[in-house]
Amino acid sequence: MSEAGALSENVTPAETYADLVTAIEAPRAILMMVPAGKPVDEVIAALTPLLSPGDLLIDGGNANFHDTNRRVAETGAIDFLGVGVSGGEEGARHGPSMMAGGDRGTWARVAPIFTAIAAKHKGEACAAWLGPEGAGHFVKTVHNGSEYADMQMIAEGYGILRDGMGMAAPEMAPVFVGWNGGRLKSYLIEITAEVLAATDGATGGPVLEVIVDAAGQKGTGRWTAIEAQHLGAPVPVIDAAVTARNLSARREARGMGQAAFGAAPMPLDSLSQADLESALIAGKILCYDQGFGMLAAAGAQYDWQLDLPAIARVWREGCIIRSAMLDDMAQAFEEDVARDLMLAPVFAALLAEHHDGLRRVVAEASRHGLPVPALSAALSYFDAMRTARGTADMIQAQRDYFGRHGFVRLDTGAEHQHGPWAD
Ligand code: 6PG
Repeated sequence: MSEAGALSENVTPAETYADLVTAIEAPRAILMMVPAGKPVDEVIAALTPLLSPGDLLIDGGNANFHDTNRRVAETGAIDFLGVGVSGGEEGARHGPSMMAGGDRGTWARVAPIFTAIAAKHKGEACAAWLGPEGAGHFVKTVHNGSEYADMQMIAEGYGILRDGMGMAAPEMAPVFVGWNGGRLKSYLIEITAEVLAATDGATGGPVLEVIVDAAGQKGTGRWTAIEAQHLGAPVPVIDAAVTARNLSARREARGMGQAAFGAAPMPLDSLSQADLESALIAGKILCYDQGFGMLAAAGAQYDWQLDLPAIARVWREGCIIRSAMLDDMAQAFEEDVARDLMLAPVFAALLAEHHDGLRRVVAEASRHGLPVPALSAALSYFDAMRTARGTADMIQAQRDYFGRHGFVRLDTGAEHQHGPWAD
């Protein structure tokens, strides 16, 4: 309490769940901020017998949306909202982005509180009801998958500057500062510049040099990849980012690999910093094209009618993936919600301008031996998405050959056709 300062007048401490419930006037609204999974179920189980019909429980953690679907159904007469909250510690103090799911009327009851504390974009609160059941937590999951992808592509750019161009961390900081003044303007690019410039207190050298290169993860990025597979929605950049984190954990094996095969040689002087900026711009557009495509697929599959422009608007401030581009994305979806993001004029023009840079970065990094899994995935996605006549005719022929699965004829549209091998 002493640490709450002036706020302490507004704080009523409670030592037990019963004290907490008694201290709040009915109908109650209780926001739970506890680790996702079993702890949430334990708190719900402890609180529910003490609550009355019409009281409201809100899960503000990073829940798996399947759990939220279940909890919405299980809490019965007690209302339940699942609200994805993004913004880290800074967001908690100065305004996060909030993605609500559950009953719309129930959200309306507490919306004034959430919109008051949310981050604002030009005065508009970055908090909204996005759909029923676990829709809010689902959107937060895709936010986190996109966070993984943004971070991985930035890390790949950093890797090229460090291991290809031989730059030290403090030299790279101004490069990212410059990028943050352009199309890539975003919280993650901004903090990357600060991380690169930071000095370690113990060694006096760049702090990055003392950080073990094995990425942690609590699981939301992985959920995005898993759910995308369930939906049949392609999110290869997010898949690559999750896989890259898994691979980063295999430090010993990587060390043995380097001893056996050697590291990528220096210098990689066929690339410019402008190429890298282009690669990150194109990669980001392609990644968000995938993420929003996945959201559209989920909206259709779960009958949630997810409002893509509203999602892009909620992500403009407060959250970890906030970026200037999200404002353009919101506008692009407002113009035409059914169109692929990469085909919206503003993004189609950016892709036309920058896909060559992405290709150069992926080609040169690969030729040189530097791993760029997320950027490569973005490039392959781009190439696949601009190939009207793909290669799945071969897959269909093979399926038909070994299993008589049948194919559709291109010339007549006739279904359940078989090749000459059937005879
Ligand atoms: C946010 C973040 C946050 C997440 C951390 C760590 O939006 O504020 O997404 O919810 O927990 O970023 O996630 P990982 O441990 O999976 O990297």
